[in-house]
Amino acid sequence: MITINDLNGLRAQVDTWRRGGNVAFVPTMGNLHDGHLSLVRAARTLADRVVVSIFVNPLQFGVGEDFENYPRTLERDSAMLEGEGTDLLFAPPVELIYPKPQDQQTRVEVPGLSGLLCGASRPVHFVGVATVVCKLFNMVQPDVALFGKKDFQQLMVIARMVEDLAMPVRIVGVDTRRESDGLAMSSRNGYLTPDERAKAPMLYRVLGGMADKLRDGNSDYAGLQAQAATELDHLGFTTDYVAIRRAADLLAPSADEGELVVLAAAYLGKARLIDNIEVSR
Ligand code: PAF
Repeated sequence: MITINDLNGLRAQVDTWRRGGNVAFVPTMGNLHDGHLSLVRAARTLADRVVVSIFVNPLQFGVGEDFENYPRTLERDSAMLEGEGTDLLFAPPVELIYPKPQDQQTRVEVPGLSGLLCGASRPVHFVGVATVVCKLFNMVQPDVALFGKKDFQQLMVIARMVEDLAMPVRIVGVDTRRESDGLAMSSRNGYLTPDERAKAPMLYRVLGGMADKLRDGNSDYAGLQAQAATELDHLGFTTDYVAIRRAADLLAPSADEGELVVLAAAYLGKARLIDNIEVSR
């Protein structure tokens, strides 16, 4: 595996590879777990070469969020990526991604989608995500890019950006990797105390209960959402939202909608956990 930190080196290497094959890209913020590695494994089945980036993006963290404390584990991450057959690790310094002060930085905004759900409680988040992913796409110039479905809204924001701006990259969503008790793998699970870690899988179980009811034909969305939020609060979570949405665009579904997604965000102590389940009925 080659590690590159500068743009000229990255471009020269990817150009060479793209002449003889295709390139897949997995953007990450590091502190890798098996969820990230499953993206790398999926990438290897879709392309001849796999590029992974590690960049903790300041633009997607709001004031008081965990940017400063976000775990930086480059050496360990690098060994894990090498073990999965990654061809190139791109680990740019912040000055390469954001050469100008933040208030002069061009931004990419996907309106509508970015203000819902997680975007309602993290107002700058998706502008930060869209901006950095757009810039990384322009730097890496991949044929295909992979994102985890745990961040369902993020995947939709990126897919919409790519469609709206006619970016020549195929976006692929990869199923969420879970611990054996159902907890979605996340870099932020490391913030959980042992007590919180024991409770954390209940988020997935509560969403699973809602998904079962939807599959059984229940369309009382408001009732199901309210019941789940109360259940989570009783279990010790501080619920940000529980929502049943149309899978296609995250808008409110009609009673007979067939393709749904149940999403939630809830705090356990310092950790903000998110999860979702897609429901076809
Ligand atoms: O999902 C993440 O890790 C980040 O939001 C991403 C896509 C790498 C952009 O910084």
